[in-house]
Amino acid sequence: VSGIWGQRFTEKCLRHGAEVVQLVKEAGLTPSYDEIAKVLEEEKPQVLFLCHGESSSGTKQKLDGVGELCAKHDCLLVVDTVCTLVGEPFFADAWGIDLVYSGAQKCIGCPPGLSPMTYSDKAYEKVMNRKTKPDIFSFDVTEVGRQWGFNGDKRPYHHTPPINIMFAMREALQIVSEEGLEASWNRHLNAHYQLWEGLDKLGLKPFVKNPEDRLSTVNCIEIPDGVDAPRLIAHAYDKYNLEISGGLGGTAGKVFRIGLMGYNCTPRNVESVVTAFEAGLKEQKWL
Ligand SMILES: Cc1ncc(COP(=O)(O)O)c(C=O)c1O
Repeated sequence: VSGIWGQRFTEKCLRHGAEVVQLVKEAGLTPSYDEIAKVLEEEKPQVLFLCHGESSSGTKQKLDGVGELCAKHDCLLVVDTVCTLVGEPFFADAWGIDLVYSGAQKCIGCPPGLSPMTYSDKAYEKVMNRKTKPDIFSFDVTEVGRQWGFNGDKRPYHHTPPINIMFAMREALQIVSEEGLEASWNRHLNAHYQLWEGLDKLGLKPFVKNPEDRLSTVNCIEIPDGVDAPRLIAHAYDKYNLEISGGLGGTAGKVFRIGLMGYNCTPRNVESVVTAFEAGLKEQKWL
């Protein structure tokens, strides 16, 4: 747990009656391979949750080797890729991740409302062989799967699907595949470099100190002493029609957050963000 999404996953598990052990890191840091290995060794959990991109603090979790480690401990690895899928390199199978979920509305560029998920064979087997049924019928993925015709089911009714968003998802994925995944990852990375080149010239500093741990899709900027953050955010909105976020959870009041995801992740938009920061800082006589 290094931010709001790890915290929220904890909350969800507790509400389902799970026993949770947290590996807590300060906002801006991520657990290392060795720290994860130690927890697996000591606690022997059935499930390990990691957030690939912790959007509240702008950190990226390294995942290489963690899948193998989990397999060794017979533990399922669940990863949140809501703000990273299509924006950051991610390899569910090669990294041995058992359950991945994401969001439609971030780097995929679809309207909100769908949560794409994928299961490894091991996770699928586990879900299909549950001893007890999930207490919420709507969230029973075995029923959802039957409606989609998994295992040769005759697609019995489970719920009315939001087909308008499914068509939108199809179109969004078409656009992603026309660009190509690698090209999309590079576009997000280049925008991140361009942003930091511009912000650095203004004297602004990244909140995440280790460059390797920085997300390209959500960028956290330290609020410098003497800067009125809400005033800068309002200025960017009024003068440039740009929405700059403040911090969330542990980063509230400490950072500005810039999302560069999907359709909005373009060199021109990055230029506008840097211009808005420069103007906002000058307006406050900080520059
Ligand atoms: C990493 C991460 N996980 C989960 C969520 C929650 O997504 P939603 O708002 O679609 O429930 C977000 C939203 O920003 C996120 O960035």
